[in-house]
Amino acid sequence: MKRHGSHTACSIILFVAVFLVISLRCSLRHSALGTAAPDNADNDALLMELAAVDPAAAAVIQAAEKLLEGNHLSRAPQVHRDVAVRGLRDWLGRQRFDPRVMSELVDLIKRPIDRHSGIRDDNVDGTKKYASCAVVGNSGILLASEHGDLIDGHELVVRINNAPAGDARYARHVGVKTGLAFVNSNVMSRWCAAGRADCYCRAYGDAVPILTYMCSGAHFVEHAACNASSVSSSGADAPAPVIVTDPRLDALCARIVKYYSLRRFARETGRPAEEWGRQHEEGMFHYSSGMQAVVAAAGVCDRVSVFGFGKDAAARHHYHTLQKGELDLHDYEAEYEFYRDLENRPQEIPFLRDSGFRLPPVVFYR
Ligand SMILES: *[C@@H]1O[C@H](CO)[C@@H](O)[C@H](O)[C@H]1NC(C)=O
Repeated sequence: MKRHGSHTACSIILFVAVFLVISLRCSLRHSALGTAAPDNADNDALLMELAAVDPAAAAVIQAAEKLLEGNHLSRAPQVHRDVAVRGLRDWLGRQRFDPRVMSELVDLIKRPIDRHSGIRDDNVDGTKKYASCAVVGNSGILLASEHGDLIDGHELVVRINNAPAGDARYARHVGVKTGLAFVNSNVMSRWCAAGRADCYCRAYGDAVPILTYMCSGAHFVEHAACNASSVSSSGADAPAPVIVTDPRLDALCARIVKYYSLRRFARETGRPAEEWGRQHEEGMFHYSSGMQAVVAAAGVCDRVSVFGFGKDAAARHHYHTLQKGELDLHDYEAEYEFYRDLENRPQEIPFLRDSGFRLPPVVFYR
């Protein structure tokens, strides 16, 4: 297969993201998962080194730098131009790998949400987390159980890429409450056409904050429009913030998933991990939105429950679409191995184990 640039990767997500949100191939062979431990420390160090190479992210950053230097965000509607440029510049300035970002997620995500809700900022040391969070993926397996009330019983309910909730058809299975919408910026952009000053990107209404992963620097235009958008034009209540994921969190997620993918490749093919690129095009490879939502939740919650991640032969790919296939730009099996570790031996997870951050208990409902 031909190599594509990450821009292509972004466009491809743009086309399919609405349909493909979360899916996990969890036709689990437990035997395979049981052998997940690295063979030895040398091998582990090699995998960690290889995992650090991320040509897709490097290309996105380079393109974003060009946008800024060439003043190309001038395509933005006048009212949003300055905000978009500021957002892009700030985001570029934060691009680095630093797993200690885990300890800052309360500050980066929860605090702006609390401030918006008028919660007094007495969380001086920034350590007060949500008592419990439900991260709701979009797998069709949700329809096989009735976890709606259980999901809604969490303090914060996170949903991914604007999957439907609060609709009578699905309430029993997915709940009705949404406290945070995690979307990748391709999805956000679809809701907010570039070049238009007005847009509406809030699938769950004005009051629900959005956390968005920027898959392209150009999307800061849509971000500015999205953040400013609200149903009520009266401006009585400011809409909830649209928060951009910290690039250090993006880099951490990328490294973790690539590590698990490399390890799986070497184990299953018996080939050297260096040959991973034969199976996964590096320019295309990406962690899933669901994976990042889980890691973000682990940073801001005392307890995390995860629903709707997984696959079953009898279940639909998504609870809300008829889509059959899944994207090869993700390695869901690798992400699944990461989740197993998150549940059962979080202290073993590379990069996170060096973050100085203590992971909360995470439970997957399958
Ligand atoms: C987002 O909107 C809020 C008002 O609703 C504003 O205070 C904030 O500065 C905006 N942020 C960005 C990055 O545009």
